[in-house]
Amino acid sequence: MSTTPHILMCPPDYFGIEYEINAWMKKDRQVDHPLAVKQWTALQQVLIEAGAKISLLEAVKGLPDLVFTANAALIYRKTAILSRFMHKQRQGEEEHDQAWLEANGFKIHKLPETISFEGAGDALFCGDTLLAGYRMRSDIKGYQDIGTLLGCRVTPLELVNPYYYHIDTCFCPLSVDTAIYFPGAFDEYGRKALTNLVPNLIEVNEEEARSFACNAVVVNKTVATNSGCPDLHKKLKENGFCPVGTPLGEFVKSGGSAKCLTLRLDGEEGAGWKYKSGVDANTQA
Ligand code: ARG
Repeated sequence: MSTTPHILMCPPDYFGIEYEINAWMKKDRQVDHPLAVKQWTALQQVLIEAGAKISLLEAVKGLPDLVFTANAALIYRKTAILSRFMHKQRQGEEEHDQAWLEANGFKIHKLPETISFEGAGDALFCGDTLLAGYRMRSDIKGYQDIGTLLGCRVTPLELVNPYYYHIDTCFCPLSVDTAIYFPGAFDEYGRKALTNLVPNLIEVNEEEARSFACNAVVVNKTVATNSGCPDLHKKLKENGFCPVGTPLGEFVKSGGSAKCLTLRLDGEEGAGWKYKSGVDANTQA
C-alpha cells in the first residue's frame, strides 16, 4: 500500500539556544536566526521535491525546540504515543503536539507520568521491530507498554555516548531491511543486536556521524541529510538511494539535524506495518 509521504514540520520562528540539555548545546554558541530560517526552508523544499506533503505545527514563543517535531510522538497508523519529555524545558511542547495531532485525526495515547519518552527521536521501526533508544532521554520501562499496546516486538538499545542522546542521531532505517548506523553510539551488545536484526546495515564513520549523517529523512528513495557526509552519500548511491545534502549547521548547534526537524505521519519507509493491511492494528490501541 503506498501513500503520499506526509511530514509534520514546525517553522523555526522562535528557535534558539535558550538552555543546555545535551552535549551540543552551548548558550554562548548562539544560532544565526536568519540562517536557521534559510536552512529550514531549504530542507522543506528538498522534501517537497522528493514527493512529500508537509503540514505545519505553529511555532510557540518560549519553546525553542518545538521545531524538532520528531520528538512530538511515535506514530503508529492513526495512533500517536505522545512524548513525555525528560527535561522540564521541553515539557511545555506536549500540549501543542497533542492539540495538533488530535485535531488531525490521531488517537492520543499517553504513557504513565513517571516515564520519559521522546517519540520518534527515540523509537524507529525497522521491518517488524521497533528499535528503541534508552538511558539518555527515554526510559527502558516505557517500552514494554509500547510493545504491548502496538502488538510489536521492541528491541531496546542502550545509548552510551552523550553526543548521540536520541536514537535518531545514530541510527536510521532506510527500508524494512536496510539501515544506517554509527557503531560508536552503542555498546557491544547493542551493535550485536542491530547486526542480528537488520539484514543490510550500513556503517557511518565518526566524522560524518558528528555531522549528523545518521539523522536522515527518507522520502521514497531520497535520503536527505546535513551537508558534509560524502562517504555516506557514496554508500547510499551504491545501495540504490538518492542522497541529498542540505546545510543544517544552525540546528546542529542544538543537537539536531534533518530527521529531528520532521515527524513522518503516514509511517516511515522502514516501518513494516505500513505495507500490511491495517484492519486489526487500527482497532488496537
Ligand atoms: N535541543 C533538542 C533537545 O536536546 C534537540 C532535539 C533533537 N531531536 C531529535 N529527534 N534528535 O532536546
